Amino acid sequence: MCGIVGYVGPRDAAPILLEGLRRLEYRGYDSAGIAVLTEKGEVFIEKRAGKLSNLTDHLNLNGNTPVGHPGIAHTRWATHGRPNDTNAHPHADCTGNLALIHNGIIENYSELKEQLRSDGHKFVSETDTEVLAHLIESRYDGDLVEAVRLALREVRGAYAIGVMHTDHPNRIVGARMNVPLIVGLGDGEGFLASDVPAILEHTKNMVILQEGDLADVSPEGVRILDLDGAKVQREVTRIKWTLDAAEKGGFRHFTLKEIYEQPHAIQEALRGRVATDGSVAIPELTAIADKLKAIDRVYVVGCGTARYASDVGAYLIQQWAGLPAASQIGSEMRYGPPPIDERTLVISVSQSGETADTLAPTRMAAERGATVVVVTNVVGSALTRDADAVCYLQAGPEIAVASTKAFVTQVLVLELIALQLAALHGKLTPHQVRAIGLAMRDLPAQAAETLKLAPQIKKVARRYAGVRDVMYIGRTLGYPIAMEGALKLKELSYVHAEGYAAGELKHGPIALLDPQTPLVAIATAGATYDKVVSNVAEVRAREAPVIAVATEGDEEIGRYAQDVLYVPETIEALSPIVTTLPLQLFAYEVAVARGTDVDQPRNLA
Ligand code: M6R
Repeated sequence: MCGIVGYVGPRDAAPILLEGLRRLEYRGYDSAGIAVLTEKGEVFIEKRAGKLSNLTDHLNLNGNTPVGHPGIAHTRWATHGRPNDTNAHPHADCTGNLALIHNGIIENYSELKEQLRSDGHKFVSETDTEVLAHLIESRYDGDLVEAVRLALREVRGAYAIGVMHTDHPNRIVGARMNVPLIVGLGDGEGFLASDVPAILEHTKNMVILQEGDLADVSPEGVRILDLDGAKVQREVTRIKWTLDAAEKGGFRHFTLKEIYEQPHAIQEALRGRVATDGSVAIPELTAIADKLKAIDRVYVVGCGTARYASDVGAYLIQQWAGLPAASQIGSEMRYGPPPIDERTLVISVSQSGETADTLAPTRMAAERGATVVVVTNVVGSALTRDADAVCYLQAGPEIAVASTKAFVTQVLVLELIALQLAALHGKLTPHQVRAIGLAMRDLPAQAAETLKLAPQIKKVARRYAGVRDVMYIGRTLGYPIAMEGALKLKELSYVHAEGYAAGELKHGPIALLDPQTPLVAIATAGATYDKVVSNVAEVRAREAPVIAVATEGDEEIGRYAQDVLYVPETIEALSPIVTTLPLQLFAYEVAVARGTDVDQPRNLA
């Protein structure tokens, strides 16, 4: 996720763009850059790695803030290419007359790059984005909109782009495919932005572009075409949000915004890894395929939420790839390490990639000769330096302290790695992998469907907001989800909660249950469903109230549970994705009802 902003009109573009970037910094802060058409008719580009302040300090210090218009600007969350000055946007074509910014991933960029290189184009960065600048250049014969259209017809992937050219001082061109982009309509000026807050102080009239829209933005207004060149009509929306509400996308908290971003985050995590026929290939693992074939045991390591994702990963690696696999708590593994040698694979999982408790055992494993694969959300983070391969979550920055979309995408990326290992070790046939891959492709829509439970969950949460303790249970894949649900409730609402393997209830924890202690049961369809139901029946016999997360169409569970949260049916292995979402919403709503600091819980950073 990156932030893009563009301006065309009579004012100097730079101050408008830099302020717009400041409001979009939540979308990415690896680097920032700006391009402005100067009074001399040249494209001036300045870009700097790191936070936006690095760019603004540099411009201010050197009295170098460009004067002129139009302009485009970008704040980056790296996907292809390290976060450095060269890979920062905007990118230029060979002539330096065209500048381009991009949010998204161009899936076929290597083949396009090869072709453009053989046609004589010179590349300076490692990004997929620069390919677009050269591709548009190669299609340009004076009509910028047409050149962008022709170029985009050759592109596979996701994009929101902004383009400017020295020949067109009164125009910026935007386009959108599976990544948000809006056009702002001011009085004699036009804007492009990834999100409303970037331009809200200049205009409240916005056109939300749809997939495949191409926008020709000028001071007179906007002309929208589809990728076949046909004109399309889009409504102008009058935005009524305040700036503060707009920064959270209209949500009350970043936590809730990120919960609702999950269908998109899931889609991004699958992008470039699961094809339309369901086949799975993780390009990041290709270079180490031989090492992965030779391994004979696996440890998946993480802390907190990342550790519960690791539990799911280890379980599925064992089931699918037939390799002995265990999850490890980062802070424990370092002091009591399991056997590790050249035939060991260590998968380190961390949203930030900076957690010291995960870094230390990862480094130790690398020193002992293990193959290290890192699963993280942050390009270039410390953890990636110890890795033989890095699989990014592609979830976009997580601002709230409580991890939500990172957990779900960690689970998904670990499942993809498990599938890849199973294929490499000959344990799943291509047909079996494709069946799972196809089920994964349904997950974004199923997650969106699951979020529709919000009104029901709010009511249930209000009813239980005053309790002191909550118990969560699940079996097999439901067990780590029970622990993650309990952790979310603890950190967001400060209510004491614990997650147990359901079979363990009778070995002690059942003594805690009474009518004031609700139990949340993960009771979706699967091999252990009947067992979970009988655990729930035992709980009901102790008069503890039960909230069940169950599969749509299951009527039996309603006999034991006061509240049933129905989630869409998926294959058992993918159930953690849909069962997690209601637990996040429940924790969030209990927290709101109790008035805690949802985005920044006490004692946590
Ligand atoms: O950045 P990491 O994924 O390495 O962070 C690990 C944990 O600190 C983190 O998941 C923590 O448990 C979250 N606050 C949970 O919501």
